[in-house]
Amino acid sequence: MLEVTELHTYYGFSHILHGVSLTVNREQVLAVLGRNGVGKTTLVHSIISFAKPAGGRIKLEGHDITGFPAHQIVRRGIALVPQGRRVFRSLSVLENLTIPFRCRTEGTSRSWDIESAFDAFPTLRARRDQRAGNLSGGEQQMLAMARALVSNPKVLLLDEPSEGLAPLIVRELSDVIKELAQQGMAVLLIEQNFNMALRTAQRILVMSRGQIVHRSSPQELAENQEIKARYLGM
Ligand SMILES: Nc1ncnc2c1ncn2[C@@H]1O[C@H](COP(=O)(O)OP(=O)(O)O)[C@@H](O)[C@H]1O
Ligand SMILES: [Mg+2]
Repeated sequence: MLEVTELHTYYGFSHILHGVSLTVNREQVLAVLGRNGVGKTTLVHSIISFAKPAGGRIKLEGHDITGFPAHQIVRRGIALVPQGRRVFRSLSVLENLTIPFRCRTEGTSRSWDIESAFDAFPTLRARRDQRAGNLSGGEQQMLAMARALVSNPKVLLLDEPSEGLAPLIVRELSDVIKELAQQGMAVLLIEQNFNMALRTAQRILVMSRGQIVHRSSPQELAENQEIKARYLGM
């Protein structure tokens, strides 16, 4: 579904991504784990064209979308749930979902709308008229995810969805993410939370200094003390 090959991205003269390659398939959650500052956000920003890669290719369903403007990439079916959630705090839950609903893509296996997003997150339905700024952190994360879903994506990029949330909420989010993949979505899950990645993803990549330094199944990574110590501070 999503194929990233040898991606290089710079901020000014700082070389941040050093040839990152990965593939996310339909019905799969692929996690990228790494400590602060290794380039995880730069990776998702490069995929969705918020940052301009200096080299490498990005393909969606076999079509080269490298260098396309962000709005076109979203229209073609890639949605980002940004780090820190970034909901419109002064707008209601429903208003937060109405804005992206107007610029949807067409033709995914499952067609999302505001009601089906509420079905995925019933808590949001109950709070539909509340200001987003008054929601708890977990509810704001659900809203950020629901907002991505109503654009009807084929590929969902999640940038540290578990950040700052209680373990119980993290487990709930993990279950929803797995469910989305089972329904056909390709999910790229960026995390620092080892347990979240472990329980959610079918495959895990470990990132360090702008490079993928390890690729394996979650079980294999769980047993690899050297990689965990060296790159994840565990
Ligand atoms: N807009 C920017 N301009 C310059 N440097 C940046 C910018 N954003 C991030 N960086 C730097 O790029 C590196 C990777 O950052 P980032 O992708 O945010 O890492 P992560 O998401 O893994 O914490 C860091 O050293 C960070 O300081
Ligand atoms: Mg980040």
